[in-house]
Amino acid sequence: MNIILLGPPGAGKGTQAQKLVDGRNMVQLSTGDMLREAKTSGTEMGKKVAAIMDAGELVTDEIVIGLIEEKLDGPAGGGFIFDGFPRTLAQADALGDLLARKGQTLDHVIELQVNDDVLVDRIVNRAKEAVAAGGTARADDNEESLKVRLMEYYKKTSPLIGYYYAKGDLTGVDGLAAIDAVEASIAAVLDA
Ligand code: AP5
Repeated sequence: MNIILLGPPGAGKGTQAQKLVDGRNMVQLSTGDMLREAKTSGTEMGKKVAAIMDAGELVTDEIVIGLIEEKLDGPAGGGFIFDGFPRTLAQADALGDLLARKGQTLDHVIELQVNDDVLVDRIVNRAKEAVAAGGTARADDNEESLKVRLMEYYKKTSPLIGYYYAKGDLTGVDGLAAIDAVEASIAAVLDA
């Protein structure tokens, strides 16, 4: 079973993906994590995307589609969770083509429905917690970058809600509920 977790920054995509990895042996494909790893390890691609990510903008479709394509040839466990991908209509089309070429299907697109005030609070808290724990906050977890991330979401990613609705793949879940309740709602969709 292959699924997409769709939602704005801070909606809980990564949190819920981890629950699905633990509970269902699914494989999380987070383009954000892959790009951060490339940034940290200082690869050419990492250097190229660092400033774009820190500012909260989207990196090119070509880069992220390439990253996902590589992973689709790897172990699939209980299925792939696409976390933070696709983020543009071009990425969504590319994912459909890639899955079709590999004889795979997309089974569910789960939209984590939240509101902007909560997102800002969650991101600000995450940054504070990281610092309090002696680490550093994500370079894009600041007020300025968050504004850009939200704008990128509304301009480029939110059209995917209509795209997947029209394909009949979309289910909305209340992302404002407690983490366990969101997990239960997603489980109900996957087990239906
Ligand atoms: P990415 O890493 O994907 O970041 P994001 O979409 O901004 O998402 P976040 O990780 O901030 O939020 P999340 O929805 O995963 O929420 P989380 O579970 O962490 O992308 C980063 C950057 O990489 C992009 O800006 C772009 O530059 C680039 N990029 C990545 N993919 C790309 C693509 N496909 N195309 C182009 N560029 C791309 O939760 C957030 C916080 O809230 C946590 O502290 C968590 O504990 C808390 N929380 C979660 N759920 C709940 C709940 N139900 N109740 C209370 N608190 C909760």
